[in-house]
Amino acid sequence: TPDITSLCNDVNSGINNIAESVRTRKCCPLNIGKKIKPFVFPKEKTVRMRWPAHRGTSEQVDKYRRAIQAMRDLPEDHPHSFNSQSKVHCAYCNGYYTQVAIGFLDLDIHIHNSWLFLPFHRWYLYFYERILGKLINDPTFALPCWKWDEPAGMRIPEIFIPKDVNCKPNTLYDVYRDAWHIKQVVIDLDFDHIDKGIPDEMQIARNLCTMYRDLIRNGGDTIRFFGGKYIAGDSPVANNDPSVGSLEAGSHTAVHRWVGDPTLPYDEDMGNFYSAGYDTVFYIHHVNVDRLWKLWKDLGIPGHKDPTDRDWLNASYVFYDENEELVRVYNKDSVDLGKFNYKYIENSEDVFPWRESRP
Ligand code: C2O
Repeated sequence: TPDITSLCNDVNSGINNIAESVRTRKCCPLNIGKKIKPFVFPKEKTVRMRWPAHRGTSEQVDKYRRAIQAMRDLPEDHPHSFNSQSKVHCAYCNGYYTQVAIGFLDLDIHIHNSWLFLPFHRWYLYFYERILGKLINDPTFALPCWKWDEPAGMRIPEIFIPKDVNCKPNTLYDVYRDAWHIKQVVIDLDFDHIDKGIPDEMQIARNLCTMYRDLIRNGGDTIRFFGGKYIAGDSPVANNDPSVGSLEAGSHTAVHRWVGDPTLPYDEDMGNFYSAGYDTVFYIHHVNVDRLWKLWKDLGIPGHKDPTDRDWLNASYVFYDENEELVRVYNKDSVDLGKFNYKYIENSEDVFPWRESRP
């Protein structure tokens, strides 16, 4: 079990050329000497309803903007600040944490390309959502979800586009995005750095096939969907390793590439682990990945089961919660969504629009 410790090292990094990176590579959290508490689910009745980003009500959109702005307004060194939250991704994904506590001095921890991918991001979003809610004092606050797997959601949601209706600066905007793609062209869920330029209808049909591929054809059992075993002493699995889970390797990565700015050396922000967290779209993208984990189980196909391996169940991560406490959370507590107090607002017409899209 990789013990993700609070020992962080800013000297390590997955990006070598400092001069050309547009975001800081110093990603270790401050105050890291703080005591880590065990996490307990808060007792509360309010359920947060995560809403589709392409059709939010003005109230939902307004709350979301206010919360993000409040996060941007915090002093940078605050654990809830926009930059601190962004750096969580960089720190866990670019080799800042080492497996020191368990005696593997030179091994980095990387939560991608393995079965840590889904639970890590579920916890990340859980705290991020609660922090945003706290910042605007709203216990019902819920994140939007970029439903790129359903035809109506297959463009970058309008709320992220530079201007808002009142022409006020848009707090959800990020300058490091692909300039053409954010003009609301239909996304390519199989994007690999080259625009296919095919008609929208055809792209949408292909996207549905890509979803079928990631959730059904290639995701037939636990390891194929979650990704392969990653346990104490293992070095981080290389990109494109066959043990990357089907959803992570497929549409998830395509969306990152598709949003990132291809004119920058590292495809910032979304196209690189170290910078992805600086784009508000990152979180909303991962809300959908989280939802697809749930839908994968809801399909009811035998084999669509969460891992039960002890090494998986006992892997843990450390996050700042909404009360600025450092808490340790485990994979084993990530599987029962009932405990998390959030739900997804679904399209009543068809929750699985790709179910019959066999490629
Ligand atoms: Cu931590 Cu979508 O990557």
